[in-house]
Amino acid sequence: AFVTLATNDSYALGAIVWANSLRNPLDSSDPANLALLGRPNLGCTFTKLHCWRLIRYTKAVFMDSDTLVMANIDDLLEREELSAAPDPGWPDCFNSGVFVYRPSEDTYRRLLDFARSCTSFDGADQGLLNMFFNDWATKDITKHLPFTYNCVSQAFYSYLPAFRHFRRDIKVAHFIGEVKPWHHSYNSATGQVEPREGTGHQSEFLQHWWDIYVTQVHAMLPAGAVSVQLVTCGL
Ligand code: GLC
Ligand code: MN
Repeated sequence: AFVTLATNDSYALGAIVWANSLRNPLDSSDPANLALLGRPNLGCTFTKLHCWRLIRYTKAVFMDSDTLVMANIDDLLEREELSAAPDPGWPDCFNSGVFVYRPSEDTYRRLLDFARSCTSFDGADQGLLNMFFNDWATKDITKHLPFTYNCVSQAFYSYLPAFRHFRRDIKVAHFIGEVKPWHHSYNSATGQVEPREGTGHQSEFLQHWWDIYVTQVHAMLPAGAVSVQLVTCGL
């Protein structure tokens, strides 16, 4: 299973686009169409721990709803718990926006007990999970996913040459930070996203997010359900 988390209407919108981006590479062999903390409100991300309770699945991949799948990632299910990519802010930690895990009531209980007994160093899930799976950095290199499976947007600014060199290997883009794809504007006349300044988001990936939103998601939303920038653009 692929699992995500939507804690409000805004993230639900992200989740719907994320689900479409995931289904595209799973369903089609059409790579052409696939060419695309200081956060007080993140306490609710502990909700993420619930994903361990999905015990009808033996193996699962958790993905944040602000991720976008660019290429087939089924091979992730061959990895073991807990596999994740390094966080560029502190590469001895994994980023908890994409990880492979084994649903288990026992692990869920142990995670909850752990959460009660200590303080997550970032006040959210990433700190807690890194404290729980605390040998990730050193124990087993096969549990280190390539960065291309969770390519966080900020890295494009700090290491542009690598981004350009590895661009075609990127399988998952992750729009971390307070500004999400649905906060940017979309010009329905030109069909182009108009990115907000300084967010670090890669416009090519943003465009892909919006292409999916416009062609596959917008029409299926009940009228007035979610207001994104499209509204101001008349779409
Ligand atoms: C990072 C992770 C995200 C997590 C947050 C809080 O931004 O990518 O998944 O919820 O940290 O720990
Ligand atoms: Mn995220």
